Amino acid sequence: MPTPEPQDAIRRVTVTVEQRAYVVHIGAGCFQHLGSIVTRACGGSPRACVMVRDLGVPEERASEIGRSLEREGMRVVECVVRAGEEAKTLANAEGLLRGFAQARQDRDDVVVALGGGVVGDLAGFAASVYRRGVRVIQCPTTLLAMVDASVGGKTGVNLDLGQGTILKNMIGTFHQPAAVVADVRALASLDDREFRAGLGECLKHAMIGADAGDAGLGAWMNNAMEQIAQRDESTLVELVARNVALKARIVEADPYETSAAGGRALLNLGHTFGHAIETLGGVGVIGCGPGILHGEAVALGLIAATATAASMGRVPPAMIDAVRERVRAAGLADRATGLGSDQDLIDRMGHDKKVRGGVLRVVLPGDEGRAGVVAGPTHEALAAGWAAIRA
Ligand SMILES: NC(=O)c1ccc[n+]([C@@H]2O[C@H](COP(=O)([O-])OP(=O)(O)OC[C@H]3O[C@@H](n4cnc5c(N)ncnc54)[C@H](O)[C@@H]3O)[C@@H](O)[C@H]2O)c1
Repeated sequence: MPTPEPQDAIRRVTVTVEQRAYVVHIGAGCFQHLGSIVTRACGGSPRACVMVRDLGVPEERASEIGRSLEREGMRVVECVVRAGEEAKTLANAEGLLRGFAQARQDRDDVVVALGGGVVGDLAGFAASVYRRGVRVIQCPTTLLAMVDASVGGKTGVNLDLGQGTILKNMIGTFHQPAAVVADVRALASLDDREFRAGLGECLKHAMIGADAGDAGLGAWMNNAMEQIAQRDESTLVELVARNVALKARIVEADPYETSAAGGRALLNLGHTFGHAIETLGGVGVIGCGPGILHGEAVALGLIAATATAASMGRVPPAMIDAVRERVRAAGLADRATGLGSDQDLIDRMGHDKKVRGGVLRVVLPGDEGRAGVVAGPTHEALAAGWAAIRA
């Protein structure tokens, strides 16, 4: 059972999938120790390391990491990626694979993914197929990647069907990292909008907290929101450690998302709505300009899923406003512009990977802190969800 270990500086959460365990290290300043963490995770120093770096991550972080790896005797080669959802393509994965081969990476070497969820998903995918799989160390540098994307082994890229249709994460693998190192100091350079977007995934975790062994997460976040917004380092360490531990419990119980009872699929709460929003051109959130970030779409999806659940009588209608209030308290928008017609949105939901046998399956909230998978919600119930977030 993973629990965050209270330590002076670094908190550790162990994730065990099929008898293989890896450690998520969370702290302020822990990138300095990356070299020794990699050596320990790999049972000896790899000869070489390709660092896949998100260009948005300040140079000094990459240098700090590079020095730490070199102190352990590793040769470090850097591949850079300009992050953003549009970077999650097969073409970019192929570019990385070429970079690995040119760096003469062999099966005992290691890939370090330094960046947000985009770089983590892309580099993790490339590592999972290069020579049929090399080890990857995830070094998340956005809040979203720290609390969610870097843990659990899902990797992937989007599939472009042409004519503006992009299927999110349609190509991917399960490839658990050898270790994850989350240095909250990296968050200092993250812009406010990206930081708040990460809170969208934390709110999702809070809404399934009772199912995942941390029923108090939502209340704790409410109380700590001011320190979180000020990016107080010890509060951020606590926030990341609690979210990682919660996700780890879910992943351990259902690593390949096959449980009929919900399991890992519960982590998709808000995502079927969110993914549909992300595929729209021209969508925006008030006060933030055009475009929408993944975490913003998830936060809107949480409200829409709650409204759908309320229209089906699964939750009381008052819960819609309660969720809306939490979203706003996290500094996130509770309505979007440019959503288009219900029919188009519902069709887009139909492209989601949770569709099985042609039947849409949506994760909807139930009692406080719990959720469940609902197959075949009616058009009317889904439309009630979309109505709740239309500006
Ligand atoms: N694999 C999973 O389980 C999983 C879970 C959740 C989300 N995801 C994926 O994660 C992606 C979203 O990740 P994201 O929100 O981190 O976005 P992102 O990776 O695009 O990063 C957001 C922006 O922040 C910049 N950035 C990153 N670190 C920075 C830093 N320390 N300082 C300054 N700028 C920095 C990046 O350059 C980018 O412009 C989506 O593609 C989503 O599908 C995956």
